[in-house]
Amino acid sequence: MTSPLVIALPGNMSFAGRLAAALGTEAVAIEYRQFPDGESYVRLPCEVEGRNVVLVCTLAGPDTRFLPLVFAADTARDLGAASIGLVAPYLAYMRQDMRFLPGEAISSRSFARLLSGSIDWLVTVDPHLHRYASLDALYAVPAQAVSAAAPLADWICRHVEAPLIIGPDSESEQWAARIAALAGAPHAILGKTRSGDRKVHIRLPDLRAHKGRKPVLVDDIVSSGGTVLEAARLLQQAGFERPACAIVHALFAQGAFDAVSATLSPVVTSDTVEHPSNAVSMAPLVASAVAVMLADRFAG
Ligand code: R5P
Repeated sequence: MTSPLVIALPGNMSFAGRLAAALGTEAVAIEYRQFPDGESYVRLPCEVEGRNVVLVCTLAGPDTRFLPLVFAADTARDLGAASIGLVAPYLAYMRQDMRFLPGEAISSRSFARLLSGSIDWLVTVDPHLHRYASLDALYAVPAQAVSAAAPLADWICRHVEAPLIIGPDSESEQWAARIAALAGAPHAILGKTRSGDRKVHIRLPDLRAHKGRKPVLVDDIVSSGGTVLEAARLLQQAGFERPACAIVHALFAQGAFDAVSATLSPVVTSDTVEHPSNAVSMAPLVASAVAVMLADRFAG
């Protein structure tokens, strides 16, 4: 099998470079600019005919990233690529997985359908699987999810003495339990009710058995920061020291990182979304998943 060709969408060259290095191949950036009217110009910078193309595009802020990604994938197809895969270190539109209010869009389904139409396979990191059992329930192409639990657990082991892993809500138990087991630490799950985009109500269980440990909040996403800020407030009120926070995807809405890093310390994330808090790289594990995907399905 010829080596895959890694092509970075705008803003993804750092991750693409690490991924290509782990795959033992080269990474190039697409040529991208906006026309004066805001439409996107996309050009592939090299020959793709006969190559297994790996597009790299994290999907934080998906609405502006999606069209250039589809244009790049369609162009690779037109120009004879053998296969077109997508590495989306962060996969967007996973949380609106049901109609909470009458008339709401189930955007997870629409987004998966649109994306599946342009690519042959997908590799991502810790998608927000809550009501969907797996990516296969949504995506029409082969899709593999890589877990950030091991690198984050390793970081916690090396930097936090006597950690208590805290999942701030029931959805986070999948990450908290795994990270705690890998770190050899106890874990607890809080109760959360959301009452608005930025407002949550959190309930603490009885944590007296863990007094003296350093709480480490783990979750897949920090967006507004409301969840980890409220959890940290309650933990400190209950007598714990300032919590740390280890997050997979550094979404951090406007102003959220300043608020979170003023309250929790340290705040670390994986590099699925480029951010100053990135402390662990997912590129080696993603590269392994890409290699398996290509060998299993596109080796011929
Ligand atoms: C929700 O289920 C996720 O796992 C996160 O807890 C949530 O998205 C965080 O959002 P925010 O930072 O806005 O509270």
